[in-house]
Amino acid sequence: MFSYYGGKRNFIKKYPNPPQDVTIIVEPFAGSCSYIVHHMEEEDDREFIGIESSKLLHKTYRFLQDCDEEEISTMELRMGKTIEDDFPDLNKRAFASLQSQVGCAHLYESKTVTEWGLKQWPSRRNHIVRSLPKTKRVKIIEGNCFDYFDQLDSPTTLWFIDPPYTGIAGSHYRSGLDHEKLAEQVKKLEGYVVVCGNENDKYLPFEYLFDSRCYRGKKLQEWIYKQRM
Ligand SMILES: C[S@@+](CC[C@H](N)C(=O)[O-])C[C@H]1O[C@@H](n2cnc3c(N)ncnc32)[C@H](O)[C@@H]1O
Repeated sequence: MFSYYGGKRNFIKKYPNPPQDVTIIVEPFAGSCSYIVHHMEEEDDREFIGIESSKLLHKTYRFLQDCDEEEISTMELRMGKTIEDDFPDLNKRAFASLQSQVGCAHLYESKTVTEWGLKQWPSRRNHIVRSLPKTKRVKIIEGNCFDYFDQLDSPTTLWFIDPPYTGIAGSHYRSGLDHEKLAEQVKKLEGYVVVCGNENDKYLPFEYLFDSRCYRGKKLQEWIYKQRM
């Protein structure tokens, strides 16, 4: 959909593919829905659902689901101007604000375009345009995912669960997520389950998956927990 902190876009191929009989793919911590966007095919009868609690992202999805390719292709970000002046429409402003930020999960509206955001914009914009047809086919639920697990679960549901990590890595989201509660919920699911974590996450029996990138000289690892996969 768009570049997003914590998004799995660049290494989504390392996660298991959906089994053949899956009819619904749900990302309960939607962000930019990297797993769904990667696996959605042109002719695809499956249902695709993202659940997200961030109000900034809700406005962003609404903008993307209503706009056309032309609107994104011609959209410019400008340094030295406030985003508020350039984008009077609230949903477009939220989207611009998210794209103007440095690569961290500051899920509040920023007022100015950062140099970093400006530099990234042309390549980000290309990706957003390319994935727009898929973005428009995702059903977004604005809310707390815990309210939807029971309703959407079935033996043919695939849950791709990418929550804020425990500790400092997930703290930027300020979501106050109760990971133990998530673990209990996950164990009750009938569907196929993938949960993303890192080496510090202990609330489920995670296994090492791959080294993702280097941060301040330290290799960051991605770990995974699976059910029925
Ligand atoms: C690590 S990011 C997910 C990134 C996503 N996999 C992607 O490809 O972009 C976690 C997301 O979960 C959202 N979130 C946190 N708590 C939530 C909750 N209880 N219900 C729904 N979304 C939540 C955060 O706002 C954040 O966007």
